[in-house]
Amino acid sequence: MRLFLDTASIDDIRAAARFGVISGVTTNPSLLAKEGGVSYKQRILEIAEVIDGPISAECVTRTADELVAEARELASWHPNVVVKIPIDAEGLEAIHRCSREGIRINTTLIFNPNQALLAALAGATFLSPFVGRLDDVSYDGIELIRQCVDIMTIHGLKAQVLAASIRHPLHVTQAALAGAPVATIPPAVLYQLLKHPLTDTGIERFLADARTAGLIE
Ligand code: E4P
Repeated sequence: MRLFLDTASIDDIRAAARFGVISGVTTNPSLLAKEGGVSYKQRILEIAEVIDGPISAECVTRTADELVAEARELASWHPNVVVKIPIDAEGLEAIHRCSREGIRINTTLIFNPNQALLAALAGATFLSPFVGRLDDVSYDGIELIRQCVDIMTIHGLKAQVLAASIRHPLHVTQAALAGAPVATIPPAVLYQLLKHPLTDTGIERFLADARTAGLIE
C-alpha cells in the first residue's frame, strides 16, 4: 500500500517528506484555496521538487471538450501530474479521451461502485472513492472501498483504488485491510498514525531507567 499526502501546503509536504513514507500528493480546489493565492502551476512544480511520485491536480471545467483541454494543460506542467476529473457523463468522456492520449487520470468524487467500474473501463489510472464524505451522510465509506477493490480484483482491471476523504487513523487501517493500494491522507492524520499513549509512556520509562543505569545523564 502507498500513502499520498492530501494537501496543497508545501510546508506540510516538506515536513512529511522526511519520513520517506509519502509517495504522492493529491490536491483539489478547496485545498488550493487555503494557500493564499499561490498559482496552481507554481504549487504543483514546488511539490514536484519534493515528492517524486504522482501529483494530482484537479480540473475545474465542466464539458468534455473543456476537460480534455484543461487536462492537457495540467499534464503539461510536469510528467508526474495526474489529472483529477470528477465522475459524471462529461467527465467519463473526458477520462476516455485523455487516457487514449496517455494522460493519467485520477477519477474524483466517486460515491458508488458503478462509478468506479465505469471510470476503470474508460481507462482511469486512479479511482478516488470519498470515504469521509460518505460516512458524513450515514453510508459506510470503507464498504465502498471494499466493493471497488473487489470489482477491480475480480475482473482484473488495472485502475488503482485511492481511498480519499480520509478523516482519521481508523480509516487508514480499514482502507489498508480492505485492500486499497493507495490512501491519500491529510497531514494531521499522518501524525496521528504515529501516536500511541503507551509508546509515549514507554519512551519516558526507558529514558528514566537509562538514567538510573547510568547510560545517559
Ligand atoms: C482527494 O483527492 C480528495 O479531494 C480529498 O481527499 C477530499 O477530502 P475531504 O472530503 O476531506 O474534502
